[in-house]
Amino acid sequence: MAYFKKMRAVQAAVLLGGLFAGLVMAKPAGDLDEVTRSEIADRIKAVGSLCVAGEECAAGGGAAAVASGPRSGEQVYNTYCTACHTAGVLGAPRKGDKATWDKRLADAGSYQAILNNAINGIRSMPANGTCGDCSSDEISGAIEYMSGLKP
Ligand code: HEC
Repeated sequence: MAYFKKMRAVQAAVLLGGLFAGLVMAKPAGDLDEVTRSEIADRIKAVGSLCVAGEECAAGGGAAAVASGPRSGEQVYNTYCTACHTAGVLGAPRKGDKATWDKRLADAGSYQAILNNAINGIRSMPANGTCGDCSSDEISGAIEYMSGLKP
């Protein structure tokens, strides 16, 4: 399933970040097995092939999103959205409150409209949910994570 593939990519990105952190701290990344290492190598190769100097970037990812590595919906939620969406601060729809999210979907008309509201901000909801450097994909991931809605 595409969703699980995406999760694997996210996991690899997280592992990659951990690997770099390990290198910076001059600690051996001894907890990575061979499979993980070769997966990471594959990821690096795939990212490098997205954009070649002097050529148009391949469709899809985009340089900006690749540069910092996409964060999972859960990561974005736990960093930026939980402050309001866990307890329902200022009337924010709460994580896992399916009935409320279904009503939001009906009111907004489409998932895309809800995503646009999150990106642009709506009433007390700040633009991008205060995540200034989140891509629209990362915001969408956080919405999926908290609402259970699918794009
Ligand atoms: C400062 C508090 C706050 C933070 C932080 C916050 N939100 Fe919200 N959010 C709200 C409030 C309040 C609403 C309800 C706005 C309304 O409809 O009046 C809302 C509504 C939403 C909606 C529903 C929009 C719609 O069309 O009904 C989405 C989606 C959403 N937030 C996503 C996010 C995401 C994703 C994050 C984190 C990246 C986030 N929010 C962080 C306060 C917050």
